[in-house]
Amino acid sequence: MDAIECLKTRRSVRSYKQESIDRGVIEDIVDCGRLAATAINLQPWQFIAITDREMLQKIAETTDHGKFIADAGCCIAVFCEKVKYYLEDGSAATQNILLAAHAHGLGACWVAGDKKPYCDEIARLLNVPDKYTLVSLVAIGRPAAVPNPPKKSLSEVLHWERFGG
Ligand SMILES: Cc1cc2nc3c(=O)[nH]c(=O)nc-3n(C[C@H](O)[C@H](O)[C@H](O)COP(=O)(O)O)c2cc1C
Repeated sequence: MDAIECLKTRRSVRSYKQESIDRGVIEDIVDCGRLAATAINLQPWQFIAITDREMLQKIAETTDHGKFIADAGCCIAVFCEKVKYYLEDGSAATQNILLAAHAHGLGACWVAGDKKPYCDEIARLLNVPDKYTLVSLVAIGRPAAVPNPPKKSLSEVLHWERFGG
């Protein structure tokens, strides 16, 4: 699929078939994450790819709205050093990961990290040094169902030259 189609057809997928994901595919997905736009090219990120079922279960249980991580083939935890634009950088990397997973025919869902009370617990489980903070968890798997939530139309959100134009 081309890039525009990939952008327009990505949706958050929260149910997965019980299939493992090739290591090479996971590496390619993270490779797309590490190439995201980043303020002053700091690249403050570190990515942890989790495929161990027991750890996936523990991470799922730690979250509030990410219980489906337990069924994923992989979860990528996006951590950033606490630089000024860590959240923008980590979010850009997360979006690249979502899109790369979709381009590989996989389903993925962003599970909140930043601002959640479980950030430190996830970092502890994954043995992450203190200078990094959790931005997101991305559950990835072979899609069992793809939802189609309503979207605002282009005319509702696009303004030409000035607001209301
Ligand atoms: C910052 C952020 C945090 C999110 N956290 C969660 C989450 O914890 N659990 C979840 O199921 N979805 C989460 N999502 C996914 C959104 O629910 C989803 O993107 C939204 O409903 C729109 O659906 P779509 O991605 O299919 O377009 C999050 C998305 C963002 C951007």
